[in-house]
Amino acid sequence: MARFSNDDIIARWKEEPAPLLPILHDFHDRDGYLSEEALQAVAKGLRIPIADLFGTVTFYHHFSRKPGGLKAPRVCTGPICKMKGADALMGALEGATAMPCSGRCDDPIPLLSGHDTLVGLSADTLEQRASPLPPPPPDWMEECVFSDIRRPERATLEGYRHGEYESLKTAIDLGPDRLLKLIADSGLAGRGGAGFPTGVKWKAVADAPRSPKTIVCNADEGEPGCFKDRCIMDHDPHAVLEGMVVAAYATGATRGFIYLRYEYPETEKILAQAVSDATKAGFLGPEILGTDFTFKLYIRRGAGAYICGEETSLLNSLEGAHPFPRNRPPYPVTHGFENLPTVVNNVETLASVPPIIRMGADWYRGLGRGEQAGTKIISLSGDVARPANYEVPLGFPLRELINEWAGGPGDGRSVQAVTMAGLSGGFLAGDDLKVTLDEPSIRSKNSFLGAGGIMVFDDTRDMVEVAHQAMEFFADESCGKCFPCRIGTQRLTERLAGKAGPKELGPWIDEVVDVGRTMIETSACGLGMAAPLITTSLLKYFPERVSDHVTG
Ligand SMILES: Cc1cc2nc3c(=O)[nH]c(=O)nc-3n(C[C@H](O)[C@H](O)[C@H](O)COP(=O)(O)O)c2cc1C
Ligand code: SF4
Repeated sequence: MARFSNDDIIARWKEEPAPLLPILHDFHDRDGYLSEEALQAVAKGLRIPIADLFGTVTFYHHFSRKPGGLKAPRVCTGPICKMKGADALMGALEGATAMPCSGRCDDPIPLLSGHDTLVGLSADTLEQRASPLPPPPPDWMEECVFSDIRRPERATLEGYRHGEYESLKTAIDLGPDRLLKLIADSGLAGRGGAGFPTGVKWKAVADAPRSPKTIVCNADEGEPGCFKDRCIMDHDPHAVLEGMVVAAYATGATRGFIYLRYEYPETEKILAQAVSDATKAGFLGPEILGTDFTFKLYIRRGAGAYICGEETSLLNSLEGAHPFPRNRPPYPVTHGFENLPTVVNNVETLASVPPIIRMGADWYRGLGRGEQAGTKIISLSGDVARPANYEVPLGFPLRELINEWAGGPGDGRSVQAVTMAGLSGGFLAGDDLKVTLDEPSIRSKNSFLGAGGIMVFDDTRDMVEVAHQAMEFFADESCGKCFPCRIGTQRLTERLAGKAGPKELGPWIDEVVDVGRTMIETSACGLGMAAPLITTSLLKYFPERVSDHVTG
């Protein structure tokens, strides 16, 4: 970038909401790292105590404090990339360091350098390539989010329904009350993990008394094994923007943010182009479609921290505070961005909104099976012939997805286990693979579907080692705010590494179960509550392997 002065950089962002991250990124881009002088200038310009700023900056993975750090190669060492040889790739590249799963499990191994992502299985095959499109569904499958994603030029405004935001027009014709009812009637629930009903969330923000109100699109997608939001944003960005404007119209919000994970630099460019085109066409900004409705949209790039996907950490990160999760209640619907009413929705949730408005609430409900409303995108990866994003009816059998849609494991191999909710849902194995893809079915096995990342491990994989790597990820990403999670994830990692703890099976199990139970009961956020599912499911499905590990 051009050589802007410290003052230029600060002045460029200071009047915008949520200025800290873009200011830090500008310094980082200008100098190739965050120097002492840059931190001093930011602290002074934004009136942040230097010690607080230092603590915040060093919390993120990707802000380098060493000259040249921005360009230094970072290799994904998530579970699938490890299976595909990430350690060897890292060893072959001078100065390379590891980064957690960076959302490319359908096309491994990603390497980040500066603002470019390269992918390849070895150093001499690394190249830039677009995010894979989802494969075509079977004839009988009616998609919602992916229904138009494979159309040529879909990412451009002209290619997006001939440049029209027709669902926004319908929404404005309906008015906020009928719009809120339509979304509630559709049964749409959050697709980012918690599954909270979208209509209820929007109504709470619409009814909340204070303003300005905010819509946040959670595009942090840090859960290992999840790569659906990237696919939607890269190939159908206007669907996400239209969903956000509709949410703003329904709730009375006037500003919005897309909080995008750092590891998706190409996606940032695609979104920036889409925002610019939609603003020029009058779908964003002041007086939208000739009404007095105004909605200003900002893109904010994270800096690498899994916990920033948790909605209250995300809000703190936007506000320039240390990204710890907040205590709840109060919830973001009344006390969100700048303590004002805020909708936080996942990318997939928002991209579901335009087709729901176009096709109707009954249509969407009817896409699910049995009592389940709608569809879910599953990011399926690991030991299957065709790893990809698949949109399935909620209630669809897991085994049919793995074996028929994705081609199953390799010849002569069988599925030993899968993860659920990326890593957060722990493992399913054996007869429990007969679940259907919906929360009631999966929760009955003590797991959860969450954001829909499923990694498949065949019978050659060492599940204790997989569990160890998973717990190591949670230990690295624990924000440290509360001690049961901060210490518990470390202890469980050590036990799974076999480095410490009892060498007899009974005491080992007692300790692991006890640590896990304490974490579930006393952790302050979903990370600490979910991480022990790795150990409880390992003990449930692989007791003999655990026994060998402890006593061997
Ligand atoms: C540790 C943790 C990480 C999370 N990461 C994400 C994420 O990357 N993307 C996301 O949309 N939701 C994530 N969530 C869920 C969000 O807190 C929140 O429920 C969601 O963004 C709400 O949107 P929805 O209602 O559309 O699902 C995470 C939650 C936890 C506890
Ligand atoms: S549970 Fe873990 S990640 Fe969540 S607030 Fe506590 S320490 Fe942080």
